[in-house]
Amino acid sequence: MHLMSTEISIVLPTYNEAENIPIIIEKIRSTLESYNISFEVIVSDDNSPDGTWRIVESLSIKYPFLRVLRRLENKGLSPAVVDGFHSATGKYLIVMDADMQHDETILPKFLEKFKNGASIVVGSRKSDGGGIDGWSKRRQFISWGATMLARLFGFNNSSDPMSGYFGITREFFHDVVEEINPRGFKILLEFLAKAPAGKVEEIGFKFQPRQYGESKLTGSIMLQYVLGLYDIRFGKLIPLRFINYALVGFSGVFINQMGLLLGIETFKFSHEISLIFGIELSILSNFLLNNYFTFRDRRKKTVKGLANGLLLFHLVSALGAVINYAVAILFSEKSGWSIYLSNLLGIAIATIWNFVLNLHWTWAENRNNGQSKER
Ligand code: GDD
Ligand code: MN
Repeated sequence: MHLMSTEISIVLPTYNEAENIPIIIEKIRSTLESYNISFEVIVSDDNSPDGTWRIVESLSIKYPFLRVLRRLENKGLSPAVVDGFHSATGKYLIVMDADMQHDETILPKFLEKFKNGASIVVGSRKSDGGGIDGWSKRRQFISWGATMLARLFGFNNSSDPMSGYFGITREFFHDVVEEINPRGFKILLEFLAKAPAGKVEEIGFKFQPRQYGESKLTGSIMLQYVLGLYDIRFGKLIPLRFINYALVGFSGVFINQMGLLLGIETFKFSHEISLIFGIELSILSNFLLNNYFTFRDRRKKTVKGLANGLLLFHLVSALGAVINYAVAILFSEKSGWSIYLSNLLGIAIATIWNFVLNLHWTWAENRNNGQSKER
């Protein structure tokens, strides 16, 4: 194989696209052959239950330019795209939907833009000649909102930063691939965040309605998108995990107070016992919520793991409580701050302390699995 004798590599990420895949491959072939462009097509399939990968496998006998990756791990659109790019041999790497919503007739224009020096070329629904057919008012609104949000987070080098139709040069891909976090649908955002100024070009196209199969863009993917926007811009400054952790802690303040109230009013406990009851309740709920949300990727599932984690969490929380107390006393007595302000500072410092301890101890990363990009 002569690396780079292929001009463009087209990656089609698929999940249950059995009806669409033979048609889109034929459309791509017919367009690119008529322009005499050397190309290959790589279908990056997540082991679709409808057998998309198997169909592609048999088509590849007829089409020498065609290959399939049957992916069993790390499923999802963005990692499927990155894997496809890794296995590609072309100078320029282009991804498009396999469901014919993306207009393949503009592919030759991508090549033109790359030859004129672009690092990223975006197929845009929002620039000249672009548009969307048959979208509900609701989906139009969501799309508008997501684009505005991207602007707000400083993505202003593309009119359609959520597009699933774009290309990048092989060189640019290898320059940045180590630094990106391919999750969910936000793969283009990751590349746009790393793009050199003036190197992003766009081609307008009309996004077509889907004929066969169904969309995999769910509400949870949209939420992931918003979190992803934050993470790309500010994740290094204040990790998403810390914000999550702080929210859980915030809920713990309420649980604590509710426990106190319940102890005094309902169970008629003494104030001391009610305090301990409230604190214990908040420690328990914090542990469970952190285990489920904040540290979802390192979640403890076995009884042994949960018991162990709960024990460590209690130890860590006890230290935090002492810190909270000490800081509050110190500041109220030595600096003349009010006890409330001092306590607030105490809580803040204890929260950071607890977070660091939980991160490196209770939910310590398993050294054997070598996963470093956990978010
Ligand atoms: N391998 C793999 N794994 N492929 C996937 C997965 C996955 O988990 N999820 C979706 N795909 C494939 C689909 O089979 C399709 O070829 C392509 O990715 C796009 O998915 P759709 O489900 O068709 O997305 P959509 O049409 O609703 O959303 C479009 O607009 C979004 C923004 O508005 C796409 O262009 C998205 O890429 C885009 O982000
Ligand atoms: Mn689609």
